[in-house]
Amino acid sequence: MQSFDVVIVGAGAAGLFCAGVAGQRGLKVLLLDHSEKVAEKIRISGGGRANFTNRDIDVRQPHKHFVGENPNFCRSALSRYTPADFIALVQKHGIPFHEKHKGQLFCNRSAGDLIDMLLAECAAGGVTRWQPCGVKALRATGDGGYELDTDRGQVQARKVVIATGGLSIPAIGATDFGFRVAKQFGLRTVEPRPGLVPLTFDGAGWAPYAGLAGLALPVLIETGDKKNRTVFAEDLLFTHRGLSGPAVLQISSYWKPGSPIRINLAPEVDLPAALADAKQRSRKLLVNELAQWVPSRLAEAWVAQDKEWQRPVAECSDKALARLAERLARWELVPTGTEGYKKAEVTLGGVDTRDLSQQTMESKQPGLYFIGEVVDVTGWLGGYNFQWAWASAQACAIAL
Ligand code: FDA
Repeated sequence: MQSFDVVIVGAGAAGLFCAGVAGQRGLKVLLLDHSEKVAEKIRISGGGRANFTNRDIDVRQPHKHFVGENPNFCRSALSRYTPADFIALVQKHGIPFHEKHKGQLFCNRSAGDLIDMLLAECAAGGVTRWQPCGVKALRATGDGGYELDTDRGQVQARKVVIATGGLSIPAIGATDFGFRVAKQFGLRTVEPRPGLVPLTFDGAGWAPYAGLAGLALPVLIETGDKKNRTVFAEDLLFTHRGLSGPAVLQISSYWKPGSPIRINLAPEVDLPAALADAKQRSRKLLVNELAQWVPSRLAEAWVAQDKEWQRPVAECSDKALARLAERLARWELVPTGTEGYKKAEVTLGGVDTRDLSQQTMESKQPGLYFIGEVVDVTGWLGGYNFQWAWASAQACAIAL
């Protein structure tokens, strides 16, 4: 039986990074993954250019950008391995990158550069990588170590790191392995659900908007009540089945099934004032006035909903205009669901942080660690999830 200091299951963002650091510390590391291709999720991330970190992470207040039962759990790891640390590594490897907006950093060429960098770091640490190689069973041995039954035979290790990610995009290898291992060792888990995911609406209720598919516009979007309100200023995208775009992906991580979302479709104008002014001076149809402030396709779909809006603005009653302003600035709707794991960028929930050390990512089962997305820490869209993968992997690797 082959023996290692540490076996890392899952060669995605967190697993690759952890393996490189641990190997370079002199540990004998086996990294294994059941997928044939390495780090497919990195390859497809950020539209193929990997939004690999975010300069704006506030490590003192991680709850601003991270969701989970205890969003402050990630503070220790994020403050010890910062975006600047990862940027320095990317620069050391000569990878060209740029900032898009809101602190988001992307590779100039492709996400493949990042994967090559992580593989080079593993090679520098003498990491053994078996891929494809699944794990059939994992058990603790009497001496405090572990044995794994893998597709390439049995292996022994002092320590095991689970880096198998969440449930999003099963087509490229996502499984519930990490959740099953947690349960096997009596660790708590937080019920998983899709995050950063498009929202869907029922067929008949959505019919008036289905024709808007493909339309994008900047909005303010919010969910929650007065005490617990979350708001994003981002772009919204209409789809055939519902709503997507950064605004909706962000709010989806906070949305509770059965509750409404509210959207201001014209956040840059004071609509009641603008419409009152138009009524005084314009002879145009209301729809044409509206088209100054929102895309004309949206203006047309909107006025089609009410006969009183289908006239020259000068002939519209004050009440009708007020109703229009209210509906555009506070469009309230209740999603029926989400597009699910096949479209979700991340998985909310995961291994309960109450059963993990925030310093080392070791679980209450000694010698068993969890890093990356399998943990109940989920970041906003914009490079936050990769930064959590790097930071949790580093915290673990230096403690192994
Ligand atoms: P990750 O999913 O990367 O890796 C898990 C690995 O475990 C996989 O290689 C899988 O094959 C393997 N595995 C699973 N089950 C196994 C088993 N039973 N046995 C062996 N191996 C197993 N984030 C961000 O910050 N910026 C971005 O631009 C994007 N963009 C983006 C786009 C899309 C389309 C998606 C789906 C996701 C993103 N993300 C993102 C999120 C980001 O990709 C994600 O949070 C990280 O990849 C998580 O890293 P992990 O290493 O934890 O899991």
